[in-house]
Amino acid sequence: MRKPIIAGNWKMYKTPQEAVAFVNAIKDRLVALPAAERVVCPPYVALPGVQAALAGTDIAVGAQDVHWQEEGAYTSQIAPRMLKGLVKYVIIGHSETREFLGVTDEMVNKKAQAALAHGLHPIIAVGESLAVNEAGQTQQFVGRQIRAAFEGIPAEALANVVVAYEPIWAIGTGKSATGEQANAIIGSIRAILAELYGHEHAEAMRIQYGGSVKPGNMAEFMSQPHIDGALVGGASLKEDSFVDLVRIAIEAKGLA
Ligand code: 13P
Repeated sequence: MRKPIIAGNWKMYKTPQEAVAFVNAIKDRLVALPAAERVVCPPYVALPGVQAALAGTDIAVGAQDVHWQEEGAYTSQIAPRMLKGLVKYVIIGHSETREFLGVTDEMVNKKAQAALAHGLHPIIAVGESLAVNEAGQTQQFVGRQIRAAFEGIPAEALANVVVAYEPIWAIGTGKSATGEQANAIIGSIRAILAELYGHEHAEAMRIQYGGSVKPGNMAEFMSQPHIDGALVGGASLKEDSFVDLVRIAIEAKGLA
């Protein structure tokens, strides 16, 4: 059984003070829900405070991106070594970084390899635009992203990798995929992983859905067999709604 993983991607929201206040307000309620893995991914500057506030709990912290170099003249960037001890997870290849920061499939692969080399657990995000979706090319497009992201990543590393399928047209739009649509694409991602690494590894990998996930549609996604959790933006920023998402995931997977 794959343990569900619910990750809040806070994007460019919350100051360090707001971030610490937020996790202090919900940590007891999250600690009481251990059947799912719970992850918060604040902006970089809030990581030290949030890590300290959550120390001693099993609530994990993630970063929203990472560079692939050890160090160097890369103004604005953060190296894997700088995240060590602060985070367990790191989101890689989020569509907003692909769009606004020019992150390519090749860079996603380099970032994932660098993260793994430093003991960080990548959450590799993939997803298609509306145009690709409307052209009926979603499986092919997402499949290419997956093959590129996993190039050279050995099977032994897979237990430390999570995939997030986030259709770009569903992010922050209020327009989510249906549970069945998302399950079909995630099933096709799992089939590619099976082709690359074998059935057993593919079955063990956790694949999240992301894009306008809210307490009201969480059960629809979590009741699908291939969907192992959610990468959540807007609905992860509110205390009650993040706790509800975790609770609903646990119930929908029959783990309550
Ligand atoms: P929303 O949940 O706000 O649609 O954002 C999804 C997302 O991009 C999470 O990474």
